[in-house]
Amino acid sequence: MEKELLISRVDIQKRVHELADQIASDYQGKEPVFIGVLNGVIFFFADLLRAIRIPSRMDFVRAASYGSGTTSSGKIQFTKNVEIDIRGKPVILVEDIVDTGLTLAYVKENLERKGPESLRTCVLIDKLERREVSVPIDYCGFPIREGFVVGYGLDYDEKYRHLPDIYVLKMAD
Ligand code: PRP
Repeated sequence: MEKELLISRVDIQKRVHELADQIASDYQGKEPVFIGVLNGVIFFFADLLRAIRIPSRMDFVRAASYGSGTTSSGKIQFTKNVEIDIRGKPVILVEDIVDTGLTLAYVKENLERKGPESLRTCVLIDKLERREVSVPIDYCGFPIREGFVVGYGLDYDEKYRHLPDIYVLKMAD
């Protein structure tokens, strides 16, 4: 499938470092717990956490949405939940992409029930085209309007995740 460069690795790293500086400044004196939503988040999560110059903890959830290809069916379920006790702690939920918003809304709602001190969201790509539920994004890397994006963790049927840059797939109409 043909693909077109959307965000270069240089621009990704520059933006990741800007987000990291902003988070470190906002959480000065605290030790936030970063929770990544697997699998797509891995490279963003790894780069972001290493760039944040304050102590942090990390954990992951896996929220599988059923269906393959470019669309999800909207049915979401945890296949891995958090293991750190987040009650009373500042938590930052980290996602690679928000599309319909269903995954982030589902994970956020579940984490809120665990009683964190605060819960913010950090998303590399905020894709606005197909938003179904409104979910606040506190730290946003790149807002994009449309297109199926792959690379830097983002997949199409598990392919392209390893690419260091982000591309738009050219889908046949
Ligand atoms: C992708 C992405 C988000 C979700 C966003 O995950 O990583 O978690 O879809 O879509 P939504 O806003 O429409 O819910 P996916 O379920 O494809 O798993 P992956 O992270 O393993 O790629």
